[in-house]
Amino acid sequence: MNDDHFEKLLEELQRKIEYEEEETYSKVVIREYRKPSNFGMIENPDTLGDVKGPCGDTMKISLRIEDRKIRSAYFWTDGCGATIACGSMLTKMIKGENLEEAADTTSERLIDALEGLPEEHIHCSKLAVDTLQNAIENYHKKKNSENPSL
Ligand code: FES
Repeated sequence: MNDDHFEKLLEELQRKIEYEEEETYSKVVIREYRKPSNFGMIENPDTLGDVKGPCGDTMKISLRIEDRKIRSAYFWTDGCGATIACGSMLTKMIKGENLEEAADTTSERLIDALEGLPEEHIHCSKLAVDTLQNAIENYHKKKNSENPSL
């Protein structure tokens, strides 16, 4: 096989993959998955959430909190593309929110912001929201152990 033929095959394959993605996912999910925001971890975060979902994939969310407001939020996952899109959108949504608002985030709200998720990836949005709740719970536990009278 010569190089030109190989290039053409690769391009065809790429187009097929993109077509299948567009058939399955919303434009927002594809955008967030291809160019995720806030991927990584905050150094010495104020709190960290770490949850393994039923599919076996893990998500971590690290938060910087000042005056009970989320100043910065980063996520990490070894999960699927939908989970990357969920982590990206969720960390953008909660930035600037206070802890109570962020704790009220539901997977339905996240799915709405992503303009939908296929049925078989609904659990990915739950993993992201559960990880956020875990981070917030850990923050409260830490604060309570630092000052038990509060
Ligand atoms: Fe495991 Fe999406 S988080 S399949």
